[in-house]
Amino acid sequence: MPTGELRRPGEVIWTVVVAAGSGTRFGGPKQFEMMGDRRVMDWAVAIAREASDGVVVVLPPDVAEKEGGVAGGATRSESVRKGLAAVPKNATIICVHDAARPFANEDDFARVIEAVVDGADGAVPAIPVADTIKVVDDTGQVVRTPARGSLRAVQTPQAFRAEMLRRAHASNGEGTDDAALVETEGGKVVVVDGDVLNRKITTRDDLEWARAQQRGEQ
Ligand code: C5P
Repeated sequence: MPTGELRRPGEVIWTVVVAAGSGTRFGGPKQFEMMGDRRVMDWAVAIAREASDGVVVVLPPDVAEKEGGVAGGATRSESVRKGLAAVPKNATIICVHDAARPFANEDDFARVIEAVVDGADGAVPAIPVADTIKVVDDTGQVVRTPARGSLRAVQTPQAFRAEMLRRAHASNGEGTDDAALVETEGGKVVVVDGDVLNRKITTRDDLEWARAQQRGEQ
């Protein structure tokens, strides 16, 4: 059960940690790389356990049973659905967290959970983007340039009213995050402050950065 500030009376909070990716851009399953004394995914699971009444870990099918998790799917959204199927029906708030983000902390969970307790269908941590973002077509030609002030880079953990997340996934939709599916369903998704340290490990450089960060070198 969540302790201290993370406790929410009347709510049953579960977290699905998705760790079933193959790491195409990284060149292998990055979630199993060591960072300090444990694997990248172990950091993400540990904070999820502190913030939640229960955690479901979604893993590549070949290791899921051995690790005590559930087998994932071919896409992130499919893996979330497999995890959701293992979340008890009495969960009232469900968070989804990427195993590739080892630096999420209690405050990151508390902010998104609080926003859902306050009435949102979903809440996502977001940071302003520093670069100008272009929308391009298949040939690389720029189609348009959205106003930077309205753009946010979005992270996990994301929190949702449980029934809304289940409904959003019922149509087997695909998205790079879960909020996108809830938005399609007409749900109200709000942003809360994100955390620049809560970076997703995508490349080898990210892993080197994360290891240095964990050693306190940056
Ligand atoms: O590919 P991406 O970096 O967006 O993956 C984010 C998270 O989703 C990672 O923790 C990855 O392990 C997980 N994932 C998954 N199943 C997939 C693809 C990605 O659990 N099929």
